Amino acid sequence: MAKLNIVILAAGKGTRMYSDKPKVLHLIAGKAMLQHVLDTATILKPAKTIVVFGHGGEMVPQALVRNTATFVLQEPQLGTGHAVQQALPHLDEDGVSLVLYGDVPLVQLETLKKILTNESSLSLLTQHLENPKGYGRIVRDTAGEVCSIIEEKDATPEQCQIKEVNTGILAAPTKLLRTWLTNLRNDNAQGEYYLTDIVAMAVAQGVKIDTTQPGNEWEVVGINNKLQQAELERVWQTELATRLLLQGVTVADPARLDIRGELECERDVEIDVGCIFEGPVHLGKGVKVGAYSVIKNSRVAANTIISPYSHIDDAEIGINCHIGPFARIRPGSKLQNEVHIGNFVEIKNSTFANNSKANHLSYIGDATIGSRVNIGAGTITCNYDGANKFRTVIEDDAFIGSDTQLVAPVTVGRGATIGAGSTITKDTPDGGLTLSRTKQHSVPGWQRPTKNK
Ligand code: UD1
Ligand code: CA
Repeated sequence: MAKLNIVILAAGKGTRMYSDKPKVLHLIAGKAMLQHVLDTATILKPAKTIVVFGHGGEMVPQALVRNTATFVLQEPQLGTGHAVQQALPHLDEDGVSLVLYGDVPLVQLETLKKILTNESSLSLLTQHLENPKGYGRIVRDTAGEVCSIIEEKDATPEQCQIKEVNTGILAAPTKLLRTWLTNLRNDNAQGEYYLTDIVAMAVAQGVKIDTTQPGNEWEVVGINNKLQQAELERVWQTELATRLLLQGVTVADPARLDIRGELECERDVEIDVGCIFEGPVHLGKGVKVGAYSVIKNSRVAANTIISPYSHIDDAEIGINCHIGPFARIRPGSKLQNEVHIGNFVEIKNSTFANNSKANHLSYIGDATIGSRVNIGAGTITCNYDGANKFRTVIEDDAFIGSDTQLVAPVTVGRGATIGAGSTITKDTPDGGLTLSRTKQHSVPGWQRPTKNK
């Protein structure tokens, strides 16, 4: 395959977003629109990627990850042809150049591959629309060959009837593109340098023009305002939910699922309504995720049940665990197998070995919990002295009575029992009972204070 260069146009101001953020940095499925385009482009292994940007200064290059693209400023913005002209000095001599748009985020790999099949032609991605209003129209001769693209503002009433429109995405031999772009003029209704004018130049030169259509209409939808962004978000989420369903995942309602990252599911996974998945998330075989749970950058192993309203962030959860409802598992937490974390329990940067439980109302931070440990309701690891953090270690088979405070650094020995309501400030021995509370006593005839007159 010829050397591929990709030019992504991203200079538009995005006035109608009414935002301080450049348009191409607004998100679809948790990822900047321009990042979607870059990620798809990267799979094609281009020799070069050039992003033409115009607004937001360094914000655009800085916001993108995994990017080896060259960023070129277009200032002022004199049209799509002028935008591609800015990339010319950075393009290779030979090969093919593909033009994409930072605000057309969802174009798919298969569609791009189709455009790139004929390396010697000018390939246009076009689309037939019932309502072609606003788009450049594809003008064909009586033999059906493309003659030109005419912008709506320059079109005759007859041309306005044409329903085949220009999506903007195209590919051309870089050498030819270079000569065409140098010859562009701006004598049109908008006084702009139109990229689309290269079509008539190609025709005049006898260069073959191919047209391809996208696999799905939504692939070529461009975003100009928040309404279009929200609509495309739903279209894309429906697409993601459809893919999961077709691969065997039970999705309670495909309209009530949001995936803002990469969700991998093994067989027989069930996802209830209102769940959000962010970053890379892996759900093992038979995992059930309860309603309104949020899971981010985490792995959940086979047959674990996440009950409703649980939040899991940067954590690893083993086989056959039961999490929630209303559990919060924070970064750096690792739960082995058959662990139970119940309602209103917060776990941070802690490990739980097999079969341990914290079922109610607890904060476990910076702790190492052994196997078969039972942590009673209301247990708190006091891990922070206001300046530094310390670890709590609870060894295998320990039993922590309800409402215990463990003042770190502290270790509870193997098999130890801590009496309810204790404040533990020193390491406790293995086995036996450790208590730290005043003995219960009763004052007979004690009178409650009365209000002063
Ligand atoms: C363009 C096409 C039109 C097509 C339509 C599809 C031209 C002349 N017209 O029209 O045939 O049907 O897209 O949506 O190409 N941009 C820059 N720098 C500029 C101007 C634009 O980077 O100086 C970028 C914009 O950010 C945007 C894209 O190019 O991402 C398209 O620009 P826009 O002004 O929306 O083009 P249209 O007039 O809609
Ligand atoms: Ca426009």
